[in-house]
Amino acid sequence: MIDLVHVPADPAHPDAWTVEGTVHVSDAVDLAIHGSTDFAVDVPTTRATLSEPHRKVHRLVAVPRGSREPRTVVGRAIIGLPLVGNAHVAVVYVAVHPDWRRRGIGSTLWDAGLAIARDAGRRVVISDSSYAPEPPPGPDALESPTGSGRIPLHDDATRFALARGFTLEQVVRHSVLDLPVAESVLGPLRRDPGPDYRVHTMRDEYAAEWLDQLAVLKTRMSTDAPSAGLDLTEDPWDADRVVANAADMRSRGQGFLVAVVEHVPTRTLAAFSMVEYPLDKPAVVFQGDTLVLREHRGNGLGMLAKIAVLDALPGVRPAAERIHTWNAQENAHMLAINVALGFRQASVDAEWQRAL
Ligand SMILES: CC(C)(COP(=O)(O)OP(=O)(O)OC[C@H]1O[C@@H](n2cnc3c(N)ncnc32)[C@H](O)[C@@H]1OP(=O)(O)O)[C@@H](O)C(=O)NCCC(=O)NCCS
Repeated sequence: MIDLVHVPADPAHPDAWTVEGTVHVSDAVDLAIHGSTDFAVDVPTTRATLSEPHRKVHRLVAVPRGSREPRTVVGRAIIGLPLVGNAHVAVVYVAVHPDWRRRGIGSTLWDAGLAIARDAGRRVVISDSSYAPEPPPGPDALESPTGSGRIPLHDDATRFALARGFTLEQVVRHSVLDLPVAESVLGPLRRDPGPDYRVHTMRDEYAAEWLDQLAVLKTRMSTDAPSAGLDLTEDPWDADRVVANAADMRSRGQGFLVAVVEHVPTRTLAAFSMVEYPLDKPAVVFQGDTLVLREHRGNGLGMLAKIAVLDALPGVRPAAERIHTWNAQENAHMLAINVALGFRQASVDAEWQRAL
């Protein structure tokens, strides 16, 4: 028998211990899948996600009945409700400690999560699950409907998602790049973009002159990255949201580095690439958005922006050892750039969807 406890945003609330509990169980699940806790979302970040301006996030933890200790948490649910764009969607993640599975805890968390989504008027639920390594083709593999990528059929998460009425919509490749990248790799990939394009880099803050342009790029990110059959629409950004996003990252102890490519004749931005890094984990870097506007594609700007980030990174994060990135398995152009830079596949994520 278990109790479900809502995770409060207020650190002075009597149930504030649940924030540490959700981190604890997430680490155990990540360790079981990836053998590392690089993706661990720490306590300050978890707390910050509970009061974001553009997304309402609910978190629940499952504990053995009567227990109120972070280390006894056996499962957790995250219910993300976008407020600006995709307000028809609930993004629900459920995880149960490997030692506590097949006892109905996942189902109890799901039912509570789906009730929250339903009460918020959402009509689509999206979720994901991770697997390492990607299985070979065969009877134990479930192929992505996009034709690119597969996941293991006989796995707790796959079985659970199928049993709960989800459909596999997309497989995403998680890749890792070991740092530093040798100049023997980068050298042949460097191109002079010519006089029409100029690169600028920014760290931990966006330059005021580019805020509107960054909002355009970030909005395009929500429509131009392949989303297969996922029922997602445009997520609109404006300059205020770009500023708020930077402040939010700083408040969560995250640093970021962004390279933008200016189209000099029009003084607009043609492309950008950014990385984010938890300040308390000097070895770990996450690739964030990379996008080239449609009208500027085919000029090598994606590679240009990525190399600009890699060139600037050692000055900002000298102890960085690896960059993690996630790309749709069907996103051939982005994957080609990443493979050329030396990213190697580490795991895959399934993107699941069901109507509510
Ligand atoms: C997916 C997960 C949350 C399930 O948690 P759980 O507490 O074991 O789930 P439940 O006990 O409620 O199982 C519900 C149903 O899922 C299915 N299921 C779950 N694990 C299964 C397995 N290993 N084999 C076959 N069916 C399974 C069954 O239909 C099960 O019902 P049953 O036990 O009556 O047969 C857990 O395995 C997990 O944390 N995985 C990693 C995190 C993750 O990927 N989460 C996202 C899932 S979309």
